Amino acid sequence: MPYPFQIQTRSDYDQQYAKSIEDPIGFWSEIASHFKFSKKWDQVLSWNFKEPRIKWFEGAKLNITENCIDRHLESKMDQPAIIWEANDPLENERIITYKELHQTVCEFAAVLKRHGVQKGDRVCIYMGMIPELVIAMLACARIGAIHNVVFGGFSAQSLIDRIQDAQVSCVISCDGAFRGPKTIELKAIVDEALLQCPTVKTQIVYQRTHSKINMLEGRDFWWHEELTKINSLHSVSTAPEPMDAEDMLFILYTSGSTGKPKGVVHTCAGYMIYACYSFVNVFQYKKKQIHFCTADIGWITGHSYIVYGPLCAGATTLLYEGIPTWPDPGRLWDIIDKFQVNILYTAPTAIRSLMSFGETWFENKKLDSLKVLGSVGEPINEEAWEWYSEHVGHSNCPIVDTWWQTETGGILISNLAGVTPQKPSFATLPLPGIQACLVTDDGQEISEHEIDGFLCIKFPWPGMLRTTYGDHERFRKNYFDRFEDLYFSGDGAKRDENGLYRITGRVDDVLKISGHRIGTAEVENAVNSLEDVTESAVVGYPHPIKGQAIYAFVIYNGTNSNYEQLKAGINEHIQTHIGPIAKADKIQIVKGLPKTRSGKIMRRILRKIACGELHELGDTSTLLDPGVVDEIIANRII
Ligand code: WTA
Repeated sequence: MPYPFQIQTRSDYDQQYAKSIEDPIGFWSEIASHFKFSKKWDQVLSWNFKEPRIKWFEGAKLNITENCIDRHLESKMDQPAIIWEANDPLENERIITYKELHQTVCEFAAVLKRHGVQKGDRVCIYMGMIPELVIAMLACARIGAIHNVVFGGFSAQSLIDRIQDAQVSCVISCDGAFRGPKTIELKAIVDEALLQCPTVKTQIVYQRTHSKINMLEGRDFWWHEELTKINSLHSVSTAPEPMDAEDMLFILYTSGSTGKPKGVVHTCAGYMIYACYSFVNVFQYKKKQIHFCTADIGWITGHSYIVYGPLCAGATTLLYEGIPTWPDPGRLWDIIDKFQVNILYTAPTAIRSLMSFGETWFENKKLDSLKVLGSVGEPINEEAWEWYSEHVGHSNCPIVDTWWQTETGGILISNLAGVTPQKPSFATLPLPGIQACLVTDDGQEISEHEIDGFLCIKFPWPGMLRTTYGDHERFRKNYFDRFEDLYFSGDGAKRDENGLYRITGRVDDVLKISGHRIGTAEVENAVNSLEDVTESAVVGYPHPIKGQAIYAFVIYNGTNSNYEQLKAGINEHIQTHIGPIAKADKIQIVKGLPKTRSGKIMRRILRKIACGELHELGDTSTLLDPGVVDEIIANRII
């Protein structure tokens, strides 16, 4: 039996799309009726994009973990909910059935309760890709605590920013994490961060790597020891906290074009419905299939398409601890064959990286269980798309190119696998309920084909963010200020003659480095805080594998004349402030930066220089000192 809201054919899509526009209330309430609520909503939607205020299913009560776990117990008790593959191929996999997931989530929820964690408290999770990360998230959701997962590649400083901003009271971590050939000493990073985080009273530490760590008495507790304290003879059953539809489910920090990362807030009912609806439709998930999303749970893709979407749909989700290229570039193909994976969802940067190792890594790999392939996080170039289709999909699997954002909660524009048309490097059509449009610089809607525009959404959808944590005005300014009555995504796009969308990339100062979202302002702040740096400007330039890479122009006043040392020093500083993902590939020491007469750095010019588009610099005569441009071009790093 297909899912009740699974779109089956192209004409079904057209009908559903039309219905979702004509009667959004009827459309979403029908979909919501397939989820478990302990009390029904009073009102499906109230909204305006001016304040802005968006509320879905107000008055309803639910707990997302009942939808993700409890309601599957009857029919899927012994079905694997999570299949976990370790970093080391020689280590045994772990299979966690829905029944076991229920038990462990209830137990860990009881541990959190015992430590005084309550509904509404913020809990920061900083772990590697292990099942306990999922268990920790679900345990928070079970008791109504708000999780704030921080990617394990972020530095202590990034952790401090996120913990302080969210006023976190409890941290869940690991001793360390295995990633390819490396062990990342997570606990040591948390310890360093917590010196500056007085709100944190408790840290619960899962033992994974057996690294030598320090436990601070009274603050730090071992996960396994805490479990024995609540474990009665039989299973513990922590009752799901009844949550209001609009109660916060989680905060996830993401980069914008200005300032520090912002805490994107998602709420319980709308997020759940949208994550599940989009999962089932985009991937055309069929019962008992195995879904493998290679993203890290520290990013939204992992939240929505490793954890909440699949579990809500009663799917089997595969969680892989390591990286695609270790111990060799055939690793993903081995995992797919080992578990007979049906759906693979990964990032263009991973595809391009695997492409660079050549096709020998497909020898002796069958890959015949695959039915659907997916791409996310940045535009996928045609060459990578074709390679993915031919070598991974054996020209037999539809590819879904899914466009969305941390803010959108789930996929907004994508073909539905095998149901709606696909076209290389096109995200194609909006999902039902998504009123996408393109507008000009002054907010006029574009109806013609092949014209570049700003990608906006006209009407709310259940999965959209509701605010940025602790700063509602920032939320308004970021997304609703530029164009009246529209949600502005920050992306540019165009449409072909069939109305298919092609995303061209960010039009603001946000970069996608190997699919990781990084604000140039953040990197500049890190570089500028280095002694002897007067000022810097950071831009992105195209990179064959990472998609984009960082080019930093730095005014340096110190005495070190060894360029390599200087470059290493700046990158080390970026690493401590943000993390290794934000390191610059190119660093140019400059005497001055191109500025307008009012003192604003002209990043546009620097971007052109970084991209080697020297003939397209435009008018530089209005600059304060046009001479700096010549100096920068002359010493450009190629
Ligand atoms: C980019 C990731 C082109 C886009 C889910 C967006 C894409 C940003 C695609 C959000 C795609 C995501 N094609 N570009 N299929 N998917 N992007 O918040 O620029 O990490 O605004 O969410 O990634 O990144 P985020």
